[in-house]
Amino acid sequence: MVQEIVIYPNPILRKKSQDVVKFDKELHTLLDDMNETMLHYSGVGLAAVQIGVLQNILIINLPVENKDNPDEDVQLKESLIEAINPVIMKINGEQIFNEGCLSIPGINEDITRAQHIVVEYFNRDGVKQTMEAEDFLAVAWQHEMEHLTGHVFIEHLSFLKRKKFEKEWKRKLKVKHTQNNKL
Ligand code: CO
Repeated sequence: MVQEIVIYPNPILRKKSQDVVKFDKELHTLLDDMNETMLHYSGVGLAAVQIGVLQNILIINLPVENKDNPDEDVQLKESLIEAINPVIMKINGEQIFNEGCLSIPGINEDITRAQHIVVEYFNRDGVKQTMEAEDFLAVAWQHEMEHLTGHVFIEHLSFLKRKKFEKEWKRKLKVKHTQNNKL
């Protein structure tokens, strides 16, 4: 089922998530809900906290080139990464990438992160996995893992940029609120 996305500055986004201990049917339903929600909102990554569940779970599904229609990217079920209790084992290099977040819709900022990472995690059946990631995939991992520690990408902005963002965001939320009142 598509779930509601927690929007910044909801305080739940600042909370640390806990490790999953049971790899059961409930976890599988949660993962399916996360995937449906991510696809519904056209995201490429989602942490469980973004649907209000404080557990160390993230999913990533980067679009791949559609060979039938090169103008369109597609998200394939096979390329879906479901990571439970992920840990970054190695980290190196540096890259700047223009990031966005489903919890802060409409905001995109250049963020500096590691270029290459190695992560360990468990899949939905509790089997340990290792993955090496670079470029956009490494960015997605770092962005989602940051959510699990109670942080969001705009915290990387400089003081002045952050101030500008907060001002703009307050205005955006106000507009949304007024629109909701009209319904
Ligand atoms: Co995000």
